[in-house]
Amino acid sequence: MTTAEFVIVANRLPVDRVITPDGEEIWRTSPGGLVAALEPVMHGVDGAWVGWAGVAGLELSPFEANDIRLIPVSLSEQEVQEYYEGFSNDTIWPLYHDVIAPPQYHREWWDAYMNVNLRFATAAADAVAQGGTVWVHDYQLQLVPEMVRALRPDVTIGYFHHIPFPAHGLYAQLPWRDQVLRGLLGADVIGFQRTQDATNFLMAVKRRLGVETKSSTVLLPDGRRPQAKAFPISIDTAPYIELAKRPDIQARAVEIREGLGNPKCILLGVDRLDYTKGIRHRIKAYGELLDQGHISVEDVAFIQVASPSRERVDAYMHLRDEVELATGRINGSHDTLGHTAIRYLHQGYPREEMVAMYLAADVMLVTALRDGMNLVAKEYVATRADNRGVLVLSEFTGAADELRQAVRVNPHDIEGLKDAICAAIEMPREEQSKRMRSLRKRVLTHDVKAWSHSFLKALDHASRARHPQQ
Ligand code: G6P
Repeated sequence: MTTAEFVIVANRLPVDRVITPDGEEIWRTSPGGLVAALEPVMHGVDGAWVGWAGVAGLELSPFEANDIRLIPVSLSEQEVQEYYEGFSNDTIWPLYHDVIAPPQYHREWWDAYMNVNLRFATAAADAVAQGGTVWVHDYQLQLVPEMVRALRPDVTIGYFHHIPFPAHGLYAQLPWRDQVLRGLLGADVIGFQRTQDATNFLMAVKRRLGVETKSSTVLLPDGRRPQAKAFPISIDTAPYIELAKRPDIQARAVEIREGLGNPKCILLGVDRLDYTKGIRHRIKAYGELLDQGHISVEDVAFIQVASPSRERVDAYMHLRDEVELATGRINGSHDTLGHTAIRYLHQGYPREEMVAMYLAADVMLVTALRDGMNLVAKEYVATRADNRGVLVLSEFTGAADELRQAVRVNPHDIEGLKDAICAAIEMPREEQSKRMRSLRKRVLTHDVKAWSHSFLKALDHASRARHPQQ
């Protein structure tokens, strides 16, 4: 097999295999912020991407898509249940998001997680060239850095954690807490979204493993010096700016508004249907504003895009029931023949349609209870080259550290959320534009290229420190 200088390892390949109702095989962009951020990084490099094609039991040979060399890792149905739905999304995901849902701890899930991590690590070790770089991504693969290091001591290893890293008091719940820390410490650079995440990790390393740290450096007894730091991720802004300029997309934004009966204000939420995103809190706040007569369904419409996610995991099934019940109740009480209160859309959309929605939205609601970054907030800002629109942003997102000119909210405080939504609806154009200009400045100067560049620069430093002769 030909090897690559630069190998990305992520749970998902950037494309998922989907079979259409008429039996045709198509490859569709995978869901979530990780793929959206990493895809542009791969263009123009001698690289390969190791990941899962999103279908249980599917064995595939390496292939190319969108000019990226893809190395599929196969997962059996049982592994999907135990490693992906179980340990990754029913243990680590809720634990690392401040236990918004109760994490489930099962030893068989942990065993599957170890086995699957080893399969990814072996695929990466086989794919990377002598002295090359392996960049591992996210919570599904926390053991891979240590495993790759054991298989290929010659390569430089980076790890980026796309979700929060919890405070020690919560992290300590994890029965396999020490093994996970050792897994991550196999990397030369361990990147987090926020400084707080890096601090939490360093604290866990100290308390659990008794290893000393100095600033962002871990002083391992074997002499290795991994770095743990914040590298806030971002988006590729160019496609959003370009699409926002297109007359057909601007016309589509007008059509969306007309389709809602030309309300004075459109509120928009765009999320994977996930309990971390605060969708129920947002719906509750909007429903109460209608109930109490602060807004009317003719004047303020709410579009909620909730793309299907992890649909076989219990907590996600419950969330869907709750969101759909609440939406149905609000619509039943407030809809008129001409106006719908909440347009609830349980599906994903192509980027063109998302940009049209962003252009149509007067207020973007990002009310996550905990979120590593939240790239939707950045997509909205990148799209609004007209300097219009208001971003309402939860203080529990990584994005809130950067997007200081957003209207900040604590989504647990429903009264405060209602006040913020009213303030956003009524915000004078001048203030909208002042805030949006400053938000845009931040997002356009700190895009995904700046992110990957700063991470890879830190990795390069680490690699030179390990091999001073190069
Ligand atoms: C988040 C995670 C990613 C994940 C994505 C979609 O962005 O950080 O690692 O890929 O959600 O979730 P899924 O379970 O469908 O891969």
